[in-house]
Amino acid sequence: MVRFATALLALSATALATTTCSSSSQCPEDKPCCSQYGECGTGAYCLGGCDIQGSYSIESCAPMPVCESKSYTWDNLDNSVLNTKYLGNASAADWTYSGYPKTENGSLLMTMPKESVGTLFANNHYLWYGSVSGKIKSSRGKGVVTAFILLSDVKDEIDYEWVGADLTGVQTNYYWQGVLDWHNSANVSVSGDDTFDDWHTYEINWQPDQLQWIVDGNVMRTLNKADTYNETSKQYQYPQSPSRLQMSIWPAGQASNAPGTIAWAGGEIDWDSEDIQNDGYYYATVGQIDVVCADIPSGASVTGNNSYVYTSTSGMESDVEVTSNSTVLGSLGATGLDPTLGANSTSSSSSSSSSASDSIPSNTSGSGGSGSAGEQAAGNSTTGSNPTSTSSSFSQGTTTSNAATQNDRALGGSVFAVLVAVCGLMTL
Ligand SMILES: *[C@@H]1O[C@H](CO)[C@@H](O)[C@H](O)[C@H]1NC(C)=O
Ligand SMILES: *[C@@H]1O[C@H](CO)[C@@H](O)[C@H](O)[C@H]1NC(C)=O
Ligand SMILES: *[C@@H]1O[C@H](CO)[C@@H](O)[C@H](O)[C@H]1NC(C)=O
Ligand SMILES: *[C@@H]1O[C@H](CO)[C@@H](O)[C@H](O)[C@H]1NC(C)=O
Ligand SMILES: *[C@@H]1O[C@H](CO)[C@@H](O)[C@H](O)[C@H]1NC(C)=O
Ligand SMILES: *[C@@H]1O[C@H](CO)[C@@H](O)[C@H](O)[C@H]1NC(C)=O
Ligand SMILES: *[C@@H]1O[C@H](CO)[C@@H](O)[C@H](O)[C@H]1NC(C)=O
Ligand SMILES: *[C@@H]1O[C@H](CO)[C@@H](O)[C@H](O)[C@H]1NC(C)=O
Ligand SMILES: *[C@@H]1O[C@H](CO)[C@@H](O)[C@H](O)[C@H]1NC(C)=O
Repeated sequence: MVRFATALLALSATALATTTCSSSSQCPEDKPCCSQYGECGTGAYCLGGCDIQGSYSIESCAPMPVCESKSYTWDNLDNSVLNTKYLGNASAADWTYSGYPKTENGSLLMTMPKESVGTLFANNHYLWYGSVSGKIKSSRGKGVVTAFILLSDVKDEIDYEWVGADLTGVQTNYYWQGVLDWHNSANVSVSGDDTFDDWHTYEINWQPDQLQWIVDGNVMRTLNKADTYNETSKQYQYPQSPSRLQMSIWPAGQASNAPGTIAWAGGEIDWDSEDIQNDGYYYATVGQIDVVCADIPSGASVTGNNSYVYTSTSGMESDVEVTSNSTVLGSLGATGLDPTLGANSTSSSSSSSSSASDSIPSNTSGSGGSGSAGEQAAGNSTTGSNPTSTSSSFSQGTTTSNAATQNDRALGGSVFAVLVAVCGLMTL
């Protein structure tokens, strides 16, 4: 996350009058929620990705919907909702998305049209240990990255990332609270040597004491919690907080990105490639997704079965409680501190004084160079989404790049600016 946070700070300071936040600089009371991207707001800022460490108080973020064991198939997008529409009811919509999804032959196509920032799907049910597997064909082409990751609100993260310049394998990685450690990354080869043409099943088996990356049923990599102990801090630097599944295609090789990011992605994107010429977009294909929740960790505090809530900003396993509290906000002006605000109003956004720009992260329209938001219309989703109400604010978690230097992460241009580019958030 460091890359994103740094880039966003630079971006926000120059381009937007937004309030930024971090674990050392919390949000003000009127915009109490620190989004995944490090900006303060209400509404969607308080839902998936809301960072308790940068928020006004620990109650600012809405409680997180509990895990649901479930299989997802893709005959249509009926269980998915645009990120501008979601208000925390995971029973009403399993997925929140932005960008240009479509369904074809029973699969989900996450597409990235020319000069766009791609597509992101985030599952609305958090997972607190368990197994997540996806039948996936990656995208292809230098600079084009497909991701299948678990990401928590305190930036614990478990990744599969396919870099389109190398279709022989997949990169695996993990983070604890966003702390960068290049040793955490490992490449895994995939049989058949073509992750674009061939279906493979990629599984993350995440248990309290062990984490495994499993491809086509074969364990390719194992991380033991015991091996992540930090003698200095006396902490396990192991992913351990409730996380959401996020799947995406994104332009890491966007010309405006940091050189290290472009190099990691295999070079600059060719916006005139075979896929762009034939189909009009780059794409990753997603088949069935299976989620199996683990038992609640022994010793956890359980007072209900509806939501996970942090009891301390330390964000460790022992700081999570399972509660009966509601996960739903009344409007885009509501927060965890006042969740029912505006609930009576017919229009979710008109009921509060908050502007859309500080209730749906992140309105960074116009930033991010050639992939900028102005170009990105509503996309041609099979749901026929309303073209006046789409946005594409998303992050792919921490971009891993052994090639990236600290300088790259500190310098602008930035993957992040492009990733969070949002087309006009107009009427909701
Ligand atoms: C969430 O959505 C479900 C299904 O649409 C509905 O039955 C339920 O009442 C909603 N819950 C809240 C709190 O709005
Ligand atoms: C869907 O099926 C049609 C007909 O078999 C095929 O031409 C097309 O390439 C398929 N689409 C995808 C995304 O696999
Ligand atoms: C993974 O492979 C890429 C090339 O595809 C290489 O640049 C990178 O250093 C490798 N990572 C590790 C951890 O070996
Ligand atoms: C271990 O913890 C100390 C103290 O918090 C920190 O300075 C150090 O970077 C940590 N080590 C690793 C490998 O993250
Ligand atoms: C969740 O708790 C409620 C009571 O608070 C109970 O009625 C319901 O059956 C429980 N659901 C599950 C799946 O255990
Ligand atoms: C859970 O709900 C109770 C009762 O509404 C409230 O007092 C408490 O602050 C909530 N806890 C959190 C963490 O939101
Ligand atoms: C909704 O409106 C009714 C009557 O106007 C009021 O009693 C109730 O408290 C309101 N509910 C919320 C959540 O604002
Ligand atoms: C989004 O940002 C743009 C550029 O800063 C601004 O013109 C537009 O009004 C903002 N949209 C909303 C809904 O705030
Ligand atoms: C959406 O569809 C229209 C008409 O079919 C087409 O002109 C446009 O290029 C498409 N946009 C995207 C982003 O695919």
